[in-house]
Amino acid sequence: MNNFWSANVQGINTLYYSRKLRFDDMFKEQYKSVFRLDENKKMKILEIGCGPGALASAFHRWYPGAEITGIDRDTLFITFAKEHENNVDFLEGDATALPFADETFDATVSNTVCEHIEPEAFFREQYRVLKPGGVCLVLSTKKSINVTPECLGESEAEKRFWEKAQKCTTPCEYPVCRYPMSEAELPTAMEKYGFGAVSAAYTAIALTPDDPAFSPQKAHEIIDSQRYSSLDSVNRVLRGSPDFFTKAEAQEMNRLINAKFDRRISQYDRGEKQWDTEVTLTMTVRGVK
Ligand SMILES: C[S@@+](CC[C@H](N)C(=O)[O-])C[C@H]1O[C@@H](n2cnc3c(N)ncnc32)[C@H](O)[C@@H]1O
Repeated sequence: MNNFWSANVQGINTLYYSRKLRFDDMFKEQYKSVFRLDENKKMKILEIGCGPGALASAFHRWYPGAEITGIDRDTLFITFAKEHENNVDFLEGDATALPFADETFDATVSNTVCEHIEPEAFFREQYRVLKPGGVCLVLSTKKSINVTPECLGESEAEKRFWEKAQKCTTPCEYPVCRYPMSEAELPTAMEKYGFGAVSAAYTAIALTPDDPAFSPQKAHEIIDSQRYSSLDSVNRVLRGSPDFFTKAEAQEMNRLINAKFDRRISQYDRGEKQWDTEVTLTMTVRGVK
């Protein structure tokens, strides 16, 4: 059992709900125009480092004729993905030693994964399992803008918690973000490892609850996604240093965060606009075997 990512880096809720929104069907055409996959073919698509499965699930909806497989090293992510996303074949495994025969897939895709895996192994394995003419899509978040309204700012109690947390958290010894690549280095690396017709495109997604383009249900989901991510961050610290905070401190932090996001939802429901937003710029580097 390997759960180092879900326990120490990003929790299931953080990844699943943020990606559900980032890869919502509202943005389908934006992404598909960048991916340029041949929908006339009966495609086999592999997602590398699929986490809890939100992008693999979007691929199933966007390419209904395709057979989608998702692979990740984290046992809890794969268990969760299997429970929540039908129609995708999820399995636990290592991206540097993919358990598939040569020339199995028509496309491979990954989102915010390449910076965590040694590039030679990352690209070599995808090249190997792709059929001739197969497409490799590497997505990474390059920039984001966060507009936080006063009502979602940190209270004094939260600031004190984070100050204290800084004194107790040990540096992460896990292989996280060891291979960062700039916007220029990523396409260069794809070419270096054998891919042709390499291109790079950028997709900006703004999640703004008060924007009328989002239904009330979606607006609630956007606010709740931030709630889950805040709760995950706090609970990761509490799990990592169980003796450092009292049970009362832990409960109080959870209460404060929930109260803050409950208030934001009430404001939304009353029509009190705050215009908080999260804009992410996703780079897609596309290459052909
Ligand atoms: C930043 S998360 C992104 C997860 C998912 N792509 C998403 O966007 O929600 C990075 C993921 O890569 C996975 N990962 C890292 N190294 C891996 C490896 N060598 N083989 C398989 N998965 C790996 C982690 O377990 C984690 O789920």
